[in-house]
Amino acid sequence: MATTETQTLLTRLTALSQQVPEDLAEPTIGTEALLAGLAALRQQVPEDDALRRQLSHALSQALVAVERPLETVHRISFAPLQLTMTKVAIDLNLFEILVAKDEPMSLAELTQATGADPVLIARILRYLAAFHLLAETGVDRFQATAVTQTLTVPGFAAGIKHHFEVQLPAWGALPAFLAATHYQNPCDRERTAFQQAHQTDQTVFAWFMGGSAPPRLFEEFSRWMSAQRVGQPIWLDVFPLERLLPSATAPTTTTTTTTTTTAPTTAPASASPSPLPPLFVDVGGGVGHQCVELLQRLPHWHGRVVLEDLAPVVAQARPHAGFERRAHDFWTPQPVVGAGVYYLRNVLHDYPDEQCVRLLGLQRAAMGPRSLVLVDEIVCPARGAGPAVVDMDITLMACLAAQERTLAHWTRLFRAAGLALVEVVPYVMEGGHSVMVLERLVEGAGEGEEI
Ligand SMILES: C[S@@+](CC[C@H](N)C(=O)[O-])C[C@H]1O[C@@H](n2cnc3c(N)ncnc32)[C@H](O)[C@@H]1O
Repeated sequence: MATTETQTLLTRLTALSQQVPEDLAEPTIGTEALLAGLAALRQQVPEDDALRRQLSHALSQALVAVERPLETVHRISFAPLQLTMTKVAIDLNLFEILVAKDEPMSLAELTQATGADPVLIARILRYLAAFHLLAETGVDRFQATAVTQTLTVPGFAAGIKHHFEVQLPAWGALPAFLAATHYQNPCDRERTAFQQAHQTDQTVFAWFMGGSAPPRLFEEFSRWMSAQRVGQPIWLDVFPLERLLPSATAPTTTTTTTTTTTAPTTAPASASPSPLPPLFVDVGGGVGHQCVELLQRLPHWHGRVVLEDLAPVVAQARPHAGFERRAHDFWTPQPVVGAGVYYLRNVLHDYPDEQCVRLLGLQRAAMGPRSLVLVDEIVCPARGAGPAVVDMDITLMACLAAQERTLAHWTRLFRAAGLALVEVVPYVMEGGHSVMVLERLVEGAGEGEEI
């Protein structure tokens, strides 16, 4: 679809959202042209990602605008059923069967392939077709589409299972939980809707790892964690590495110690002129995706890269000779002292403010005069946050008493930990993913300030 046609479609959709005429056939709205534009869009989605996002936003607004009130109530009420029925289809291997065949299949063939009751399978297929998860090419004939294909990707299928089995019960428990707390913002990780839903007193990660949850649930969660950003840019695609790791081309020696350090008391600008030690520490780095990405971008670098996480996670780290694996509990003092960069991705949004300040304080204590902390997280816009951000925010609330944060909130939180936010580098506009660059504040500054 040409850019000018896409722009015209956008204009028409926006006009529709602003004022839906009583009679959609009214010439002012140009319904026929709008429908033709939508048909063309189905054939070819614009390559330009910014334009695609604008269209997606305009379409969802237009959809709500054209709904009758009863349709709105219906859409909201039945939304959880899509997750339920997608899970059923995955359990039946339906998507994989259709994708493997690569041509329309009859109801009889699908009944035989799944071993399910023919009446039941017909009802399931009818549901999936109604929500465009597959194509209904004729009476009792079904074919895989690009969406069907997406749902066969192992990490995405794991995501559906994870949300159904772990998150959905917690979302369901949230209204009663909030009412019982008289609508206080949750800030105790051991008392959330998650604990109520899963009848445990463990936190999510403890429950997953060696707790009472079946091991399958943690495996699915891990697979989903690895898959959920596939195809999106990462921070290293936009971040000027040479700025962070000036020794990237000139190897130097570094110190690693298991004791806490006496941290400098001055701000970086007035600190020691010695070169930044070539160390990158990925704190709570999971199985080491970011360490691998960094090393791939710096193939000739001799600096050390350290992955830190809990012992069972580090044990599953990705095979790569270039980085060290260190079993480390991040609630204890940071053992790698004076690193160039302490990097935390998707860690802080799992914790309430007080714990974030504590965790950052432990990194600060290990920082050398020119060390940086990089926080790779969502920065929630002060206005107009999109579905991806708010879905995650409420899920964090329900499961971890945690949250996504605005820039103002992050800034206050960093200051309370004795760190100054010096730069924000966004790298995925849609989800607000950004890297925030932090330096040490002079000793005492910010401490005790309200978050
Ligand atoms: C949401 S995951 C983020 C993983 C990784 N940074 C990423 O972006 O893919 C949070 C990570 O924190 C780790 N973690 C949780 N508690 C920890 C602790 N006490 N010490 C070290 N790591 C911990 C988890 O094992 C997990 O790998």
